[in-house]
Formats: sequence, structure tokens, C-alpha cells
Amino acid sequence: MSASDLIAAARRARRRAHAPFSGFKVGAAVEAADGTIVTGCNIENATYGLTMCAERVALFKALSDGHRHFRRIAIVADAPAPTPPCGACRQILWEFGGDLEVVLANPRRETGRHRLSALLPLPFDRRQL
Ligand code: THU
Repeated sequence: MSASDLIAAARRARRRAHAPFSGFKVGAAVEAADGTIVTGCNIENATYGLTMCAERVALFKALSDGHRHFRRIAIVADAPAPTPPCGACRQILWEFGGDLEVVLANPRRETGRHRLSALLPLPFDRRQL
């Protein structure tokens, strides 16, 4: 599984985004340790606040399917600048995915690669409990 395959899966997932309020459609694809790819898109709703980001949809789907170890996540939005995961998603990705590689892209090109530990330095997690 190459990064470009993962990006392609996130681009396909993005087409299913439900974003009538922001108009900002996002797709994500997470690669589990066994190579399985699970995708997600953002799902908005009329209260706004219950919106779920594409990254968490993908990760929760994967967890619900029984996956517990992950390698990478690709995130795609149609913006010239990179669209990194929001703070809430960074926390959830860290707790369930550890130090993932985060691959950012838009519909035309890859826009960056980061370790999650660089995006979420000094994380709070179960080690503090
Ligand atoms: N969104 C994501 O799905 N992932 C991100 O990384 C950033 C933001 C969604 C949430 C909302 O539906 C829309 O993008 C605008 O914030």
C-alpha cells in the first residue's frame, strides 16, 4: 500500500462528505497494521456542534471493525494550503493510533507529511492517569 493509494481512497471518501453548512468536504483513509484501509468523510448536522470530522469517522469505523493498530492516515480537502487534523482529532488519533504518519493532500497533489507526535507535542493520554 503506497501513500498515493491511501490518498486515492481518501479522495473517493471525500465525495461522500455531508457538509451542507460549511461546504468544506473532507475525506480520510486510515491504514491498519494488517494493511486494511478504512475510509471516512465529515458528517455535519443542523446543530453544527455535533459535526464529526472525516478523520474520526474513519478511525471509529476501523475500531468498530476490530482494528486496534494503525500505520498511517491520509486526509484530503480541496484547499491549496494543507488541511491538518483539528485538535480533537489529533487527540483521538494519538490515543488510538499512536505516532501515526499523517499524509495531507488536496484533489490534485500531496501537500505534506507529518508524524502525529509533531502535530501533538506533549500529549495527554492514559500515561497521565
Ligand atoms: N473537518 C474535517 O472533517 N477534518 C479536518 O481535519 C478539519 C475540519 C470538517 C469539519 C467540518 O465539517 C468542516 O470540515 C469545516 O470545519
